Amino acid sequence: MIDLSSKTAMVTGSARGIGRAIAEKMASLGATVVISDLDQAACDEVAGQIGGGAIGIACNVTDEAQVIKLLDTAKERLGSVDIVVNNAGITRDTLMIRMDEKDWNLVLDINLKGAFLVTKAAAKIMMKQRSGKIVNISSVVGLTGNAGQANYSASKAGLIGLTMTAAKELAARGVTVNAVAPGFIATEMTDAISDAAKQAFMDKVAVKRPGTPDDVAAAVVYLASDQASYITGQVLAVDGGLTIS
Ligand code: NAI
Repeated sequence: MIDLSSKTAMVTGSARGIGRAIAEKMASLGATVVISDLDQAACDEVAGQIGGGAIGIACNVTDEAQVIKLLDTAKERLGSVDIVVNNAGITRDTLMIRMDEKDWNLVLDINLKGAFLVTKAAAKIMMKQRSGKIVNISSVVGLTGNAGQANYSASKAGLIGLTMTAAKELAARGVTVNAVAPGFIATEMTDAISDAAKQAFMDKVAVKRPGTPDDVAAAVVYLASDQASYITGQVLAVDGGLTIS
């Protein structure tokens, strides 16, 4: 049984979708959670709905000053930062030859630089605590690539490199760093993709159903729990068998 009581957790991009499901599951297992997303009102609303002492702190993960303030405020208000989930992410899909530099930079900035800034700020707190769990939300396309997602798949592959490096640098201080690589999960992000692209994914999913945010949350809470204390630098695909097809 996973028990997160007495733990504090901060999840980026948690006003909706997978991030929200992760925050809800952590709260249901006893954690006090920080809902962080771009809009303060949305963070407050979700924190209020989750309860259990949850608080909302707006932060754009691409801005280092905001990220440092997010982690420092979380520590100040909750007493510790035990769990951090780098979940905030976006897509700007198009074939590589049509992809402009602006959309390359935006996706890399949010998905990869954002996770680096949050990990760096969290590491400073966790190293002093001599404990902590960081979970990065990558993607199966970071392992396999995907036509139309040069920027996104590069950001998610980069996140795996960041995960392994941070795991090596922080292990001696009692901090683990792992990644979850979701496959095709039904959220507002995937609502936007064409029916043909959805079908192409579904044809490869061995269990023949799209994943849910709860499927991803279940893996994240495990890696964020003390049950996973001997696991670090790993990537767990939560994809219904997509990457084995
Ligand atoms: P979503 O679009 O529903 O939620 C993403 C959240 O991130 C939004 O609330 C958004 O406001 C927030 N966000 C965007 N830019 C931000 C920034 N600069 N700073 C802070 N927050 C920001 O997406 P979904 O589907 O819930 O995805 C969550 C994570 O899971 C993303 O990293 C995504 O790449 C990843 N993922 C999703 C998959 C899927 O099939 N839905 C598959 C594999 C990975």
